[in-house]
Amino acid sequence: MSPTRTPFIAGNWKMNTTPTEAARLASEVAEAVRGVAGVQVAVCPPFTSLAAVAPVLAGTNVALGAQNFHVVEKDGKLVTSGAYTGEVGPKMIKDAGAGWCILGHSERRQFFGETDAGVNRKIRACFEVGLLPIVCVGELLSEREAGQTEKVVETQVRGCFAGLPADVARQCVIAYEPVWAIGTGRTATPEQAQEVHAHIRRLLTELFGAATAEAIRIQYGGSMNAANAAELLAQADIDGGLIGGAALKAPDFATIVKAGA
Ligand code: PGA
Repeated sequence: MSPTRTPFIAGNWKMNTTPTEAARLASEVAEAVRGVAGVQVAVCPPFTSLAAVAPVLAGTNVALGAQNFHVVEKDGKLVTSGAYTGEVGPKMIKDAGAGWCILGHSERRQFFGETDAGVNRKIRACFEVGLLPIVCVGELLSEREAGQTEKVVETQVRGCFAGLPADVARQCVIAYEPVWAIGTGRTATPEQAQEVHAHIRRLLTELFGAATAEAIRIQYGGSMNAANAAELLAQADIDGGLIGGAALKAPDFATIVKAGA
C-alpha cells in the first residue's frame, strides 16, 4: 500500500447468489465493514442481483459493481443497446445501481473469448455511461513457467489501455490476477505479486507519465483470503484486492477489508 493511494477491496461474486442470497450477503458485508475508514469497498454480484443489492448498500460505505457487459463498435461508434439477444449493456447495469464494472477477467478471456481490444472497447463504454472499470490482467501458469509473465501482462495492459488519455487511465483500477492463483488456493507470494505490480506501474509511467502511474490503483487477485491479505497488502505497489471465494463469506471479506484500512 502507498500513503497516497486509497486501498480498494472488491468482491467478485462470480456466478454465485440468487437475488435473495445476494441481498442477504450484501447486508452482512455492509454490517461487517460499517465504520471502517481509509479503504474503499465494493461488491460485484451477478446481473440479476444488482437491483436487489443496490438498495441494501444505499447509504453504506460499500459500493456496487457488475462483472461484465456487452458493447459493440460500429462505424467508430459504441453501441450500448440493440439486437443482441441475451446480452446486458453498460447503461442497464449503471441504472441498476452499479458504479463499477470488472472487465477482462481471466474467466471471461478463457471461456468467452474476450480480448484486450474488447476490454479497450469496454473501458471506453464505461466512461461514456459513467461507470468505472476494474481491468483484469494476468498470466497463465505455462506463461509464468516459460518466464513470460512480464511480457504477457505488459501486452495486456498496452492492449487494454491503447489510445486512452491519461485522465481516463487515472480513474481505472487494474487487477493483477495470475490465472494459476485464481480459485486454486495457490496465492502468489507477496514478492511475486509486488514484482509484477511494480512492472505494471513502470509501464504505466511510460504510457501516461509518473503522476498518473502513481495515482492508478493496482489490486492483487488470486486466492487472497483473510489469512494472507495483510502481507500482500503490505507491498508497496499492491493497492487492494479483487476477492473471489473469500468474498462470499462476510466475516472473511471484512477481515480483508480491515487489512486494507
Ligand atoms: P479467488 O478469485 O479469490 O477465488 O481466487 C479471484 C478472482 O477471480 O477475482
